[in-house]
Amino acid sequence: MEKKSFNTDFLVIGTGIAGLTFAINAATIGKVIIISKSKAIETSTDLAQGGIAAVIPGTDDSISLHIEDTLRTGVGLCKPYIVEKVISYAPEVISKLTKLGVKFSHNEGSSRNDFNCGLEGGHSRNRIVHIADYTGHAIEKTLLEKIYQNPNIELLEYHFAIDLLTQHHLPNYPIKPWENIECYGAYALDTKNEIVKTIIAKKTLLATGSAGVLYQHTTCPSVATGDGFAMAYRAGARIANMEMMQFHPTVLYNPNESKPTDFLISEAVRGDGGILYNIKHEKFMKKYTELGELGPRDIVARAIDQELKATGERFVYLEIRHKGKQYIKKRFPYIYQSCLNRGLDITKEMIPVVPAAHYICGGVIVDEHGRTDIENLYACGEVAHTGFHGANRLASNSLLEAFAFADFCFKHVKRIDLSSEKMPIIPDWDDSGVFDRGEWVIIKHNYKVLRALMWDYMGIVRSISRLERALTRVRFMWEEIEDFYRKNPVRRKILELRNMAYVAELMIRSALFRHESRGLHYLKDYPNIDTRFARDTILKSTGLYNETHLS
Ligand code: SIN
Repeated sequence: MEKKSFNTDFLVIGTGIAGLTFAINAATIGKVIIISKSKAIETSTDLAQGGIAAVIPGTDDSISLHIEDTLRTGVGLCKPYIVEKVISYAPEVISKLTKLGVKFSHNEGSSRNDFNCGLEGGHSRNRIVHIADYTGHAIEKTLLEKIYQNPNIELLEYHFAIDLLTQHHLPNYPIKPWENIECYGAYALDTKNEIVKTIIAKKTLLATGSAGVLYQHTTCPSVATGDGFAMAYRAGARIANMEMMQFHPTVLYNPNESKPTDFLISEAVRGDGGILYNIKHEKFMKKYTELGELGPRDIVARAIDQELKATGERFVYLEIRHKGKQYIKKRFPYIYQSCLNRGLDITKEMIPVVPAAHYICGGVIVDEHGRTDIENLYACGEVAHTGFHGANRLASNSLLEAFAFADFCFKHVKRIDLSSEKMPIIPDWDDSGVFDRGEWVIIKHNYKVLRALMWDYMGIVRSISRLERALTRVRFMWEEIEDFYRKNPVRRKILELRNMAYVAELMIRSALFRHESRGLHYLKDYPNIDTRFARDTILKSTGLYNETHLS
């Protein structure tokens, strides 16, 4: 008989760099349950190729230059004190990861501290500390090893967090008020055994990652369905800047790929001299920015989008052959091999590329300690909005932010005396009144339609009229999905689609609110920056759908 109810000090939802780092720390002071809705390794971290942006002492780089690059890229929406806090912490992040066993790439025949530092768009110095082109995978594997070995950590794979537990789950608790909300853990669906478990925790960390799967083309793994944003929003937390979806300029164009994830061609390829050509074999990036291939991502992605529209073609080319076979195989072994497996030898041929949804800069609002609006609920990694990235994220600043904030969250919880915290009694999941009506085609259909809708109507270049249409359609879909959710047993597919519909609605509504073009949000009707919008777009549910406060 499967155990249905758990009590723990810490519940960590998500197994990317943020969740794993926090879990390893938290296990030094209490019991940790960490859940992953799939296999633990299936994360955006695992797919991250680039690296970690960090100033290495003894180089021509400086903290103030890294801060300057981050603020410039964030186009007026970064919180400067957060930027300073994270970037000053970056050298420590590298040293902590090294101590944990991560082996960063070094220059040949050099000393221990002589990291091979790559260059990426928007950076004024070479500061991307990396492990060839599989940085995230190496980090993920190292951290997971620590998790497996730790007796204070219980890892539950294939456990899908359905909703956060709050006062609203207590028997006889009134629907209102929506102030002073507390988190007590989460209901989680054990997808293998199809039972819902109640995990009661003194502190919960949301580290659920991205929402890239809302788009038809994405670099994100298939698990990135925006679950954390949706759960936090439903529980009453404020969510900021959901219109700021970053499109990576270069993923491998492959019309036959049937998986949700497109294969990333790291920005490091352009950082190492890769050149973009349109289908007529003309270089085009200098038309759009003096920085050429190394312009900020929003500009490069929009430039490609414009070239595709102008030529009517389906992809542009990225060329790195001139670096020579030996160099390419050493610097980009993963990209080289993965392309070769798909029949493309990048040492001989140009790489057909297109942009794809990559990273969302908005998220659940947290303070400098990673605390959300909800008592006992922390968030870090991509799901969190710390104010670090602003309106556009500088390349390779995300693993940095995730690790740094996981540490900041831990430093905060460490000060709290957990032994005195009492936990409420939460009723088991109630699924009386539901039965499988066998209409699962609704889910399959809406999943496909929603992703196409987001790509076509809420993509790289937006317009008010398309956004309004998208909102109407998403709300209609949301009602159908919610109705299905209430009448059928919970399963991973419906939970994901429900969350995707919530997040799509938040994203479109946020985009409609920002009547300007700034960073990642480009609105044809308002093509310039407007200083009146030099602030975050904030959404908060009052518990009733549509009743939303925008500020
Ligand atoms: C890349 O390797 O291009 C991704 C790096 C990032 O998104 O920060």
